[in-house]
Amino acid sequence: MKFFLDTANLEEIRKGVAMGMVDGVTTNPSLVAKESRPFTTILEDICALVGGPVSAEVVSTETEGMLDEARELAKIGEQIVVKIPMTVPGLTAVRRLSEENIKTNVTLVFSTAQALLAAKAGASFVSPFVGRLDDTGQIGMDLIGDIMNVYTNYDFASEVIVASVRNPLHVVEAALLGADIATIPFKVIGQLAKHPLTDIGLDKFLADWQKRTQ
Ligand code: G3P
Repeated sequence: MKFFLDTANLEEIRKGVAMGMVDGVTTNPSLVAKESRPFTTILEDICALVGGPVSAEVVSTETEGMLDEARELAKIGEQIVVKIPMTVPGLTAVRRLSEENIKTNVTLVFSTAQALLAAKAGASFVSPFVGRLDDTGQIGMDLIGDIMNVYTNYDFASEVIVASVRNPLHVVEAALLGADIATIPFKVIGQLAKHPLTDIGLDKFLADWQKRTQ
């Protein structure tokens, strides 16, 4: 399973890379807005730190605007994957970009039907948002299982990025379902590493070590 970091913060990416936990990065307009630096510079810096795909989202809502933005973003480097919202103009843009060999990540996916359409349009990646579904009282992870089944049934090439990950259980459940990728906030990587019995065990080992006589 691949781990992407869901952040536009370079410090978090540096730390994640040092731990060997970063196979790629996803950003979105909200994450980029938290960093007070130009979008292009942020993306260039992320691409220099990370070997894998780096998702950068368009903000146009019409196909032609999305295509213009996508072509500019793709010039930043081979690693750039253009994030396109799951709308009808977005699907049209995805189809055109796939013909131009520009990689796409269809974002804001909340149903199996949307994921099916995104795959048919030729999306390289599809991002169902599990946490935001949980927020509405629907079990977000059920959607991942359904999408995995549909993609397997028809051998779709689109990779599933489990997005809107909020806690360690989301990552573990995504892994059990065989999702290709989870895009994870930096904080959740730390939570995944932690177990109280590890801390208690380590404290005991160190205390016993201090008591040794030789
Ligand atoms: O990048 C998209 C996604 O991961 C957003 O997460 O927590 O804002 O729903 P969240």
